[in-house]
Amino acid sequence: MVVPIHGIRLALYVAAGLAVGAAAAIALFPAARERILSPLKVTTVGQALVGGPFALTDHTGKRVTDTDYRGTFMLVMFGFTFCPDVCPSELQLISAALDKLGPKGDRIVPLFISIDPERDTPDQLAQYVKSFHPRLIGLTGTPEEVAAAAKAYRVYFKKVTDAKSTAGYTMDHLALIYLMGPDGAYRTHFTPGISVEALAERLAKLL
Ligand code: NI
Repeated sequence: MVVPIHGIRLALYVAAGLAVGAAAAIALFPAARERILSPLKVTTVGQALVGGPFALTDHTGKRVTDTDYRGTFMLVMFGFTFCPDVCPSELQLISAALDKLGPKGDRIVPLFISIDPERDTPDQLAQYVKSFHPRLIGLTGTPEEVAAAAKAYRVYFKKVTDAKSTAGYTMDHLALIYLMGPDGAYRTHFTPGISVEALAERLAKLL
């Protein structure tokens, strides 16, 4: 099982491994769900393990919550606009797959949630999302709001020193793409290595 985390050192990978591994294992192998959850004495069956409420600000400055997107699928990705490689290529992948889906893709709202609210202001996000899909929505918030959203989606992220960056830091983060249903519940997730064709095909079957 490969959990894609980019720009991350091995030690951090191991530290994050427990939470990430459990979420990914449950997502990838539903049979693992019972085994992983039983020690936690979770008895609710079918409860969403990934996803949940969030309250953030979109790239136009509007306050939004997860309930604003009920009735449409959400393709949720966490990242940051200063990400040198993985985030932009993932957003290109999502944009191309949505284009390939045609009108059917209109049932999906692509959301890019920043885990770098310090630099990713709504204005910064507005400039950034323009480079990708016309319907792409950038979301940011206070550090607490962003942390709460990432926690709900079981997304690991961490600020790390980076001498090459003018701000002196970069962000390590989990780079999965989550598909949430019109009810807001987790449906599946995709890894950044998936091709445009495969992503479009899998989405078409799930819509
Ligand atoms: Ni990134």
